[in-house]
Parts: sequence; structure tokens; C-alpha cells
Amino acid sequence: MDILIKDAAEEAVKADIVILPFFEDSSPESYSTLDSLTGGMIRRVVEEKEFTGKQNQLSLLHVKNSNAGRILLTGMGKSSSLSPEKIRQAGGKALSYVQGLGLRDAAVAARRFREGSVAFTGKRSPEYYFAEGGLLALYRFEKYRKQENGTKIRSLILLGGDRSLPLKQLQATAAAVHFARDLVNTPSNDMTPSHLGEVAKNLAGRNVRVTVLEEKEIGKKGMGAYLAVARGSAQPPKFIILEYKGGKGNPVVLVGKSITFDSGGISIKPAEGMEKMKYDMSGGAAVLAVIKAAAELFLPVNITALLPAAENLPGGTAYRPGDVVRTLSGRTVEIISTDAEGRLALADALGYALRYCRPKAVIDIATLTGACSVALGGEAIAMMGSDRRLMELLKGAAEETFERVWEMPLYDEYKEYLKSDIADLKNAGGRGGSLVTAGCFLREFAGDTPWVHLDIAGTAWNDKEKPYAPRGATGIGVRLLLGFLERTSASEHNI
Ligand code: BES
Ligand code: MN
Ligand code: ZN
Repeated sequence: MDILIKDAAEEAVKADIVILPFFEDSSPESYSTLDSLTGGMIRRVVEEKEFTGKQNQLSLLHVKNSNAGRILLTGMGKSSSLSPEKIRQAGGKALSYVQGLGLRDAAVAARRFREGSVAFTGKRSPEYYFAEGGLLALYRFEKYRKQENGTKIRSLILLGGDRSLPLKQLQATAAAVHFARDLVNTPSNDMTPSHLGEVAKNLAGRNVRVTVLEEKEIGKKGMGAYLAVARGSAQPPKFIILEYKGGKGNPVVLVGKSITFDSGGISIKPAEGMEKMKYDMSGGAAVLAVIKAAAELFLPVNITALLPAAENLPGGTAYRPGDVVRTLSGRTVEIISTDAEGRLALADALGYALRYCRPKAVIDIATLTGACSVALGGEAIAMMGSDRRLMELLKGAAEETFERVWEMPLYDEYKEYLKSDIADLKNAGGRGGSLVTAGCFLREFAGDTPWVHLDIAGTAWNDKEKPYAPRGATGIGVRLLLGFLERTSASEHNI
């Protein structure tokens, strides 16, 4: 969808529909010109309380004397509590509705956001967030259908919009979220570790170098825990490395869990809902998307992305509960559950980062535990880490993007939960505290490098649609990490 900025009046703009933001405390008077052109329709629906301006409420009016034949009143809640997130949601709701009507060109009366008592504090002008919500909401995954479902919106005109808005950044960010969603929604029979490697290679370019390590090299490097996870599948593992160079200094290393399908292995998962486990590479998809957007936007930072891709299946050569595996760091791990595979792959990727990447910080992002979604549902990412500054920067980016993070503790006492009788560690610590013991396990492999772990198991998949994310993959983490990188590259926040 193209985004254009124009100064035309609401009644004069050439579009199929004009979206009118309307606050609970707006008076129809403020729309008097339009209202009289439409024969008092706006006043009527408001007076009859058919439309009150409640957040995300929509009311479609057909009108005669306006260039666009339709008006969509869009509820924004109270003007005093307008926020970037409320605008994103309204943008998502309004534009999904417009697309559902089969219309092609929409305009939004952006100047209305600035009227009256609107007290708005956001980094960008309100219409930025409206367009962002719209772009994110219009995503559809149609690769596996014979026919596409209906028409797509072609353009959104921001009437009276801020001409200095970074529209290129907005488009690149939304495209990256769509890219991540596509990767995650793609079923595991196509989204194999090899395919993920090919996708990564397609991102190679002037400032992105891509290397894919094959099974043999992974073995030579000593990543025995990660290799064990891959052994039960006919699909070979691929250790995918992307290096983006956009600035000076040591890179921020992003590690994305990339289990292309998690059956649980020999510790097999229940059948119900197992089809969703194609989303166990959501962390990897997010970091790939971040590299893509960083390269398009020439972000002034260095980033290395590591994706230990593998499939967790219970084949004849699969690893078993009771096995002991050796990680790149030299430490051994006793396998209690082959379903706690993510941390094994991540432990070796963290080990690789420390040994070969000279990271100034490491962030891993992973659909790591069922307990994460039990604790926080679909509303927040669970965050754990060893570095206060890094976590505060992430919290700032989370607030801005509404990809919220909630910090969980990594008490030393949790280490006890992971003590093995025969190896240095075991890979599962029982039901109690399984969200934080997973983080605790990873901490053992992060050394002294500033490190943060993000568990996105609850947020990476929508069972129900949200205002600007349809059912399925959400693309969580992409906007958060881009917001974080933008912050770190602004000199005052240098890490
Ligand atoms: N990929 C799963 C975590 C998961 C579960 C993500 C449900 C999304 C929805 C992970 O590999 C896993 O199976 N974790 C186990 C760990 C346990 C065996 C210690 C879990 O959380 O049950
Ligand atoms: Mn698992
Ligand atoms: Zn998993």
C-alpha cells in the first residue's frame, strides 16, 4: 500500500473513502462542513448514539456531495488519552474494514488528530501510527491458495499529514514484519532448515554477508548440543550467519531460535495443536527480518545474526532422554527432555557468538517455553538478562513499539534446578519455574557479555486476530529489535 501526503480538503480528495477520526468528546460541529455536505448524517449517527467515538468503533456513511462516496467514522476514544498504540489500533481496524469492502484508495483526515484538546505525546506525528497500524493489519498469507481473497488497498492518503514523516522507514519496517510473518506461516514441509538458509542467502548484498555452516562444520566447531537436536530428522541442520555492516565497532549479535518444526522429539508433544509448532522458528524469522530492514535503511550499526536451524523429530537416529551431549563451550548437558531442544541449539549459538563474533551485546529471541504463554498470554514478551542497560534500552523500545517486554528474575537459586547427577547441567528443571530456568540455562552460556533473552512463545502466534495482526504469525520482535537498534545507534544511548 502506497502512502501519500496531500493537503486536499476531506470533501475534495479523490479517494473511494474518507476515514474520519472521531473522539468521544468530539462534537459533530467540528465536522460541520462535511456534515452539511452529507445532509447531516454525521450529526444524526452521533446524536442517536449509533456512534459514540469509542476506541476502534466504526460507522460507515454513504454520502452524496463529497468527492469520495463514503465516510468511515473511526472511534478514537477520549482525546485526552490518545496514544500511539490507540492510533495504530484504529488504523488497523479502519483499513481492514475498508479492504473488506473491496475499496482501493482511502484517505484519512489526519489533521483531525491534532484538533481540539488532543494531548498527544509520541515520537512521530499521529498519522505515522495510523498508517503503521494499517500496513500491519492488511497482511494476508495467501501463498497456498489457488485464488487470492479479494482486492487489496492500493493507497492511503494522509490529508494534511506531516511532510517530514519517515515514510521509507515505515514501509521498510512493515515490509520486514510481513516478511517475518510469511516465513513463520510457511509450513514446515517447505520451511526446512535448508530453505531458511536459502532465504538468508537471498539477503546477501553490498553490506550483508551470509554464511551457512553445514552439518560437518557444525560438528567440527563442537556444537554437539545443537547437532543432537537435529539428529532425529532427515533434514540436515544449517547454522546460518548474517553479518550486516553499517557502522563502526563490535556487532550486536542477535540469536534467533530456528526450530523449523518442534514435535518434541522422543519426548513427543501431544497431537492436539502440534500443527502450530511450525512457529518454533519465529525468533530466527524476526532476526532475518531485522537484517533485511537494517540493510534497506542503512542503519548505522553492525549486526550479526545467528540462526541455529534444525528440525526436532523422533527419527531412528534421534537423541534420547538420558543422553549426555557436549556443547561448544565444553560443558556437558544431560538430556532430560528432548522437547527442551531450543536451549540446546541456543547454547551452542551463544557459545559461537562468544568465540567468533566479538559481540558488544548478545540478544537471543526464542519461542522457548510453554510457561511463557501461561504467565503472560499474548500480551508481553518475557525478558531476562544479565545487563541492566541493555534491558532498559529494550524496555524503552518496547514502550515505543508496543511490543511489550516484562522482566522475569534470574535468581541464583534457580541454578539448583538444573543440576545433573552426571553432567555439568541438565536441560530441563521440572515444571516449577520453567520460564526462568530456561533463561537460567542460557545464562550459563552467555559468559560475561551483556546478554538478554527474549521469550516470545506467547506472542509470536495469534490464535485470535488483533487490531493490526491477523490470526497466525505476528512477526513479534521485528519492530522491537529495530527500535532497540535505532536507540543504540543514537549516540547518547551507546552500549
Ligand atoms: N517450542 C517449545 C515451547 C513452546 C511451547 C512454544 C508451546 C510455543 C508454544 C519448546 O521447545 C518446549 O517444548 N519447551 C518445553 C520445555 C520443557 C520440556 C522443559 C516446555 O515449555 O514445555
Ligand atoms: Mn520443544
Ligand atoms: Zn521448541
